[in-house]
Order: sequence, then C-alpha cells, then structure tokens
Amino acid sequence: MNRLLRIEELSVSDIQNIMSTALFIKNKHQYTLHNKVCGLLFFEPSTRTSSSFEAAIYKLGGQCIKFTPSTSSMKKGESFYDTICTMKTYCDALIIRHPDKCILDDIVKYFPSTKIISAGIGDGEHPTQALLDLYTIQKYHTRYPDKIVFVGDVKHSRTIHSLVYLLHKVKSTIKYVFVCPLQLQPSGEFEEFINMNNVNYCIWHTLDNIHIKDCDVIYMTRMQKERHINQNDNTLMNNVMILNNDILKMTKSNCIVLHPLPRNEELPREVDMNPKCKYFEQMENGVYVRMAILDIIFSENTETKNIIQTSNTIIM
Ligand code: NCD
Repeated sequence: MNRLLRIEELSVSDIQNIMSTALFIKNKHQYTLHNKVCGLLFFEPSTRTSSSFEAAIYKLGGQCIKFTPSTSSMKKGESFYDTICTMKTYCDALIIRHPDKCILDDIVKYFPSTKIISAGIGDGEHPTQALLDLYTIQKYHTRYPDKIVFVGDVKHSRTIHSLVYLLHKVKSTIKYVFVCPLQLQPSGEFEEFINMNNVNYCIWHTLDNIHIKDCDVIYMTRMQKERHINQNDNTLMNNVMILNNDILKMTKSNCIVLHPLPRNEELPREVDMNPKCKYFEQMENGVYVRMAILDIIFSENTETKNIIQTSNTIIM
C-alpha cells in the first residue's frame, strides 16, 4: 500500500491489516517513521484529523511539517502544483485535506511515486475516518452490526459515505437508515453506489422509535453548513434529529453512538455520560488507526501481522 485516497482501493485483507496493526501498535513502541518527514497540508479546517495524524507521526518516531496555506507562498500567487512539488521534495509522505474532489487524482498523475493519504476530500470521502469508525464499531460488534442509523447531513457527510463504502466491503447485508432532511438525502456518487450495489437502505426524516429500537449503531453527524448553497440552514436542522437520553433509553443495550465530531446542536453534552456514547473513544482510536496506516505505508513488508485477537476480536 503506497497511498490511501479512497475506500475503493482497499482490499478486505488491507482492511484486516489496518485493523490488526492498529490493535498491535496501541501497546507497542514502533519507530517505523524514524528519520521520516510527513507533510500535513490542510486546505479545509481540522482539529482531530490533523492533530491525530500529527500525534501518530510523533509516536512512530517521525517528524512533520505543517503547511499553512494562509501564510504560504500561495498568498504570493504560487500554484497548487508548485506547492505540492515543493512539499513532496521535503517530505516522505503528504497527508492532504482539500475541498476539490479531484485534486488527489491530479497529484497522483503528476507525482505517481509520492506517498499520499487523504485526510478528507470535499463532500466526497474521508477514508481514514471510516477506518477508525470501523475499528471502534468492531470493538462493540465483533461480527459487525446488522443495522446502522445515520443521522444528519447524509448528502455532504464524507464520513458517512466512506463508512458505508467500507462496511459494504466487509458485510454487504447491513441495513442502513438515513435520517436526514429531504434536501440532504443521499445524492450523486454516493446515491449511485448504494443503488448500484443493492445496499439495503431506507430514508427517514425523524429520529424515532421505529428505526432506533433495533439498531446497533447510531452515527450522528452535523449539518455541513459550509457546503450548503442556496439553503436556509435553520429550516434543515430540526429538533427531530437531536439525540437525547430519552431516545437512547429506547435503544438496545449494546447499541453505541458515534460521531466523527465536531458536533453542533444534534448531539447535546447531556448525553456524553451515557455509556452508549463512544465518540470520545472513537476520537482516541483515530491515533492508533492512523499510526497503523502510516506504519503500513512506510513498511517494506506489508504482510498482515499475525496477531491473535483476544478481547478486541477482529473477524474477517
Ligand atoms: C469530519 C470531517 O472533517 O469530515 N470531521 C473529522 O474529520 N473528524 C466531520 C465534519 O466535519 O463534520
């Protein structure tokens, strides 16, 4: 594995390798990135993805250069191409977040041997987030969930898109419920994927008992207001999509709540102490899973590490 741009590129054994390496790496000191420099290029805001990648790089013994577009020579008119050409000269791998869905393919075309990891591309995909989501889900549903309720901005949420693509590779029978406003239903490439691949899904407009009583995972997302054009945000978010402890009482005992964060009004702090809420653990897992991805991308030998899973069983 030389790069990670989208879920489609991963085989089931790649996924298995990342999951088992993440388990292994959590408790081991490995310095796979010793003497390596990674460039973090974020052209959209980020807290968790950028910081967890940075932490992962340091924990693996590497160094990083954080490129800040607003203080770079781009302000003097330097092109994106020259910027990438410069950063790939100084770095052994580039971790890139960008609003343009085609930009990573362009970089690969011009610099095919550069190690590139997507840190989230527009409203398209966020593959490393999906992998850490899967890692967290597997801890609580070792044989994968049967039913997942996704709540929020399904149309623009790249984390939902990548997670559905990823889960579909490992268990194609999962039932999905997309709870979202009419204007934010699945669309474009994502809608095409779920229809072409016979994904078992339905769309609902309220977070109510019918769907949540038997679900294994509730995956909350915020309204991606920065991606809404010609829409009045206040009419999109309504209180039938806000989670609370009463709703959680209706769920099964092993149901878990995830959220890629950042959160807005859809996930009030009153539910944080509810034992079903695992989003802070999910956030922590981001470091281990990103360490695993970096370890694999930088290691010569990409063979699956033979680990006997115990409590955190991985079934593939
Ligand atoms: C998400 C993202 O950037 O897509 N956050 C993240 O990476 N943890 C979700 C979001 O911005 O809503």
